[in-house]
Parts: sequence; structure tokens; C-alpha cells
Amino acid sequence: MKKSKSVDKITVPVIKEMKKTGKKIAALTAYDFLMAEMEDAAGMDIILVGDSVGMVLAGFESTLPVTMEMMLYHVSSVRKGVKRALLVADMPFLSYQTSTSDAVNNAGRFLKEAGAEAVKLEGGHQYVPTIQHIVAAGIPVMGHIGLTPQSINAFGSYHMVGSDQKTAEILVSDAKGLEAAGVFSIVLEKIPGHVATEITDTISIPTIGIGAGNHCDGQVLVAHDMLGIFDKFKPKFVRRYAELGDTMRKAFLDYVNDIKSSDFPSENESY
Ligand code: KIV
Repeated sequence: MKKSKSVDKITVPVIKEMKKTGKKIAALTAYDFLMAEMEDAAGMDIILVGDSVGMVLAGFESTLPVTMEMMLYHVSSVRKGVKRALLVADMPFLSYQTSTSDAVNNAGRFLKEAGAEAVKLEGGHQYVPTIQHIVAAGIPVMGHIGLTPQSINAFGSYHMVGSDQKTAEILVSDAKGLEAAGVFSIVLEKIPGHVATEITDTISIPTIGIGAGNHCDGQVLVAHDMLGIFDKFKPKFVRRYAELGDTMRKAFLDYVNDIKSSDFPSENESY
């Protein structure tokens, strides 16, 4: 197995510089210490504790029920496994939409109580003032436009965004607005490749795509999707690097059968 070279700590300026030097940014979600440690050792540039944790680990139907307390717990666990990557915490629903002071307070809690180095929040131009306040407090912000799962009730489904001229123009203008507000990078989720290309070529900060084509400055996926563990949705944009769900189901089945047949434990597994 190839081991990645150890390099210096990835910081927000390093991520911004990667766009200038044309180095692709590798990002992935993690929700726990062990997964974070493995991702970090593999050379991940950004580890995102996404609010997708609500659907993947907690079994919620959407990301809406995820709370600050849940996120702080997961960010703290991931923090212990991450040495090199930039650790980004996702701001859950209603942690930043209610007021700018709630937003600054909650963003600050991620840095102060859980050891995150940046926060991510969903939304376009309507969040410019919120982002400005968080950035002014010295907290780096990653934007997120396109499909924004916290707005599932407004969208009606997890469909692609930006396929017509008008919504594509809104995305480009949102990206420019977020850049001007001070975000250090923007996640582009489930938008046409040509729109992501236009955004990537227009703004000077890195774009991180998820279902946004190959021209983005970096890519992010949900770890449990690319490992083949989370089967509830199988979006076209997920490349499955393993089928760990199958491996796990077989292991559980074998374990049950071995107990039922008195095969486990053997002499060697006993004292
Ligand atoms: O919550 C999450 O995991 C995310 C990624 C899909 C970008 O926001």
C-alpha cells in the first residue's frame, strides 16, 4: 500500500494557495476519531465533519434535526485523529439562520470547544452579512451553494440545481458574493459541470465540488458513500472505492452463524 509523504499542516492560506498553484484539493467527511485518523494519514487536505452525520450515523430522514451538541461531540472526536488536514465543522440547521450573533457564537464554539479550524455554512447572497460577521471574528468560513440539503423543504427533493440559465446565473452571482464576504472556499453541490467551471474560473478562491464535475479546484464526498457503507441514496456523482457494507454484512452473518453452531470461540480464542 502506498503511503503519502508527510507534509506541513494544511491551513486556510495553504488551501487558498493550492488554487493558485493548481494543486487539487482532496476533502472527505469524517465523524469519528478512527476514520479521521485514517483519512489524515492518507493525505486528505480537508476533513469535514458534515451535518450529513445526522442521516448517515443518527438515521434521521434529513439533516434538519442535527443539533450543535451533536456536531460538537463529533468535531471533538475527529479533532483527536487529525494532525495535518484542515478541520472544518458544518454549522447545523438553525445554528446560523436565526441571527448574526447566534451565528458568530455557534461558529466560535466549534473553534473554542471542539478544535475546528473553520466552519461551513449553506446558502448564497442572503448569508453575506452573517458570513462577514463570522469572518470578522477571525473564524474562517467555507461557503456551500447549489444543492443545500438544509433547504430540502424549499427544494422538495435532492435534485440538481442550476440547469437553467436563470438559476445558473444566481449561482455565479452567489459565488461572487460569498467571495466578497470573505469565505476561503466554496462547496458546489450537484450543479452542472459547465456552471461549476464558470464559477471556478470566475472567483479567486478554491471551489470544492460534490457532483459538480472535474473542473473544480477540489472534490469532497461523504466517506460512508465512497466506502459503500451508506446505501440509502446512490447518487451518480459518488465513486465507490470499496463495498464495505457487503463486507460488514457478511462478517455479521458469519459471526452469528459461528456462535449458533458453537464454532466460536475455538480453543485458540479461549483461556
Ligand atoms: O454534510 C456534508 O457532509 C456536506 C458535504 C456533502 C459537502 O455538506
